[in-house]
Amino acid sequence: MVGPFIFSRLPVIHFGPAKIDNLATIAAGYGRSALLVTGSASFIASPMGEKVLKSLAEKGIRVRKVQVTGEPSPAIVDKAVSENRAPMPDVVIAIGGGSALDAGKAISAMLLPGGNLKDYLEGVGTREHPGQKVPFIAVPTTAGTGSEATKNAVISEVGSNGFKKSLRHENFVPDVAVVDPLLTVTCSPEITAASGMDCFTQLTEAYLSTKANPMTDALALKGIEAVARSLPEAFRDGKNTGARAGMSFAALLSGICLANAGLGAVHGFSSAVGAIYEVPHGIVCGTLMAKANEVNVRALRRDRSADRALARYSEMGKIVLGEEGRTEDYYIDGFIDYLFRLTDELRLPPLGRFGVMKADIPGICMNTDLKNNPVKLTQEELAEIVESRI
Ligand SMILES: [Fe+2]
Repeated sequence: MVGPFIFSRLPVIHFGPAKIDNLATIAAGYGRSALLVTGSASFIASPMGEKVLKSLAEKGIRVRKVQVTGEPSPAIVDKAVSENRAPMPDVVIAIGGGSALDAGKAISAMLLPGGNLKDYLEGVGTREHPGQKVPFIAVPTTAGTGSEATKNAVISEVGSNGFKKSLRHENFVPDVAVVDPLLTVTCSPEITAASGMDCFTQLTEAYLSTKANPMTDALALKGIEAVARSLPEAFRDGKNTGARAGMSFAALLSGICLANAGLGAVHGFSSAVGAIYEVPHGIVCGTLMAKANEVNVRALRRDRSADRALARYSEMGKIVLGEEGRTEDYYIDGFIDYLFRLTDELRLPPLGRFGVMKADIPGICMNTDLKNNPVKLTQEELAEIVESRI
């Protein structure tokens, strides 16, 4: 029987090679002035960036530019908002990785109310955002966060009182997502690995989530299939456009899934670690994914009432192993082995490389929200996960 569910809105999705060529026409549908948000890896200076600017100019669109370095903080968003409210742009366009898209999403949300972003941030401020925003177009240049399809922007302040929290509203789902896999062919193997593992984590956590529904299940399994087929190849040969398209598709699905089903322990860790250290989100997810799932499975096997989650692990094993006629336990163990092999193959660095120390482990675990993890993990189990990747 298909159970009941609610599904959030989606952006209008333009998916495929060279879809970036449609951006100016899409933007012109909103007006004649655009605020263009990009990341530090200067997309604007690339031949593709120049082509985008030229096509916007040809449509008579005036462009103001904001460049965001690293993950967006409240100060970065507030500054961009105060400098670009008069005159108000007709549309905000963000082109870049997850940080640039989240910055653009937050700026488009804050332009109308103005003021301090922190006031509206989950777990930090107390004000409820009214949901009005400037239309927002998201153009990912990495395949990972799925921010082009989510309703939240992740905002970080790093330090001893740091946080990594969301600005969230149903209306913050981008109006349009232009997902052009050709924009990702210049991603380095390191970025491909980290963002690809973020996407993979999002798909598995949404599939295992206590809030999963029949729609997210269908999409998550398709996404996991695409990751298994495409991620190692995209890492080995960045110019392989088939593998790049597979990962762009998987990332888009991962965003839709997380927006509707939530996430699990690995993303809980990511917020706790990311508040203290500047470790890229995808690295935290990728480096902890195998061990966290191993510990999850062990905890689930102790509690046989967890059959639903174990059956889901088995389903994922069947997909990544591509074998038929084996037992459920074979597929579950095979899935965990696959994750460890993938971690090695993609050369995901340990957290110690970014300054995380053993002494930090209790604090990290204390601040780790398990979100919709399929099983409750103890502080000892959480510590075991982080310790294995220091
Ligand atoms: Fe993520």
